[in-house]
Amino acid sequence: MRVILSGHRRGLGAALSEHLSGLGHQVFGFSSASDGAERVDAADFAQVSAWMAATVERHGPPDLVVANAALVVPPRPLWQLEPTEFSRLIDVNVKGMFYLFRAAIPAMLGPARGVLVGISSGYGRSTTPRMSAYCTSKWAVEGMVKTLAQELPKTMAAVSVDPGTLQTDMLKQALGAGAKFFPTPDQWVGKAANLLLGLGPQHNGQSLCV
Ligand SMILES: NC(=O)c1ccc[n+]([C@@H]2O[C@H](COP(=O)([O-])OP(=O)(O)OC[C@H]3O[C@@H](n4cnc5c(N)ncnc54)[C@H](OP(=O)(O)O)[C@@H]3O)[C@@H](O)[C@H]2O)c1
Repeated sequence: MRVILSGHRRGLGAALSEHLSGLGHQVFGFSSASDGAERVDAADFAQVSAWMAATVERHGPPDLVVANAALVVPPRPLWQLEPTEFSRLIDVNVKGMFYLFRAAIPAMLGPARGVLVGISSGYGRSTTPRMSAYCTSKWAVEGMVKTLAQELPKTMAAVSVDPGTLQTDMLKQALGAGAKFFPTPDQWVGKAANLLLGLGPQHNGQSLCV
């Protein structure tokens, strides 16, 4: 399977990239602090579309596209957030997913096959105080995926996946020392990979959890 994954340098993306490659799948990923051609800012459509065009030309259309790249801002009430940090979070978490899907889908419509996954969160389906920017972005992920699911050919699928709560840099930023009580990406990745690899048209529009 050809897999495209944003945010492959750290956390869940790194674990998925390594695990899927180990299973023999072709994984193509990018992150904003990677080296060379894999250094792509998810929030910059020109960079994402150029990277996608080069990847598709060399390897063909993807079977699975995972919009995983995201960030959090330090938790605090909405009225204490800086407009610039709210804006950057929306640029990466929401526009970044749109840019990835927008760049990938035209190449997938020819064969009319493939699955698009928006990595969501429990906070895309519920809310918690002091996380308004992140909750807003993950509710947008759910809305974008469900709308896209109504637009795609019946042979394709768009799905949102809540990965659960995992010990990554992001969780440390959100929870501090409490992050150590949660499973590591390595403990999570086998189950997550099985879920992602098993997705097909029958899951179109669903909100799933690992
Ligand atoms: N960990 C959890 O408990 C949890 C729970 C629910 C949902 N999630 C979701 O799971 C996904 C992965 O989270 P994580 O915990 O693995 O986070 P993480 O450890 O902070 O990793 C985030 C990844 O995204 C990349 N990234 C960030 N900004 C980017 C940008 N502008 N352009 C390209 N890549 C960018 C990072 O690489 P660079 O630094 O190189 O850019 C990194 O590879 C996210 O969508 C997150 O919202 C996580």
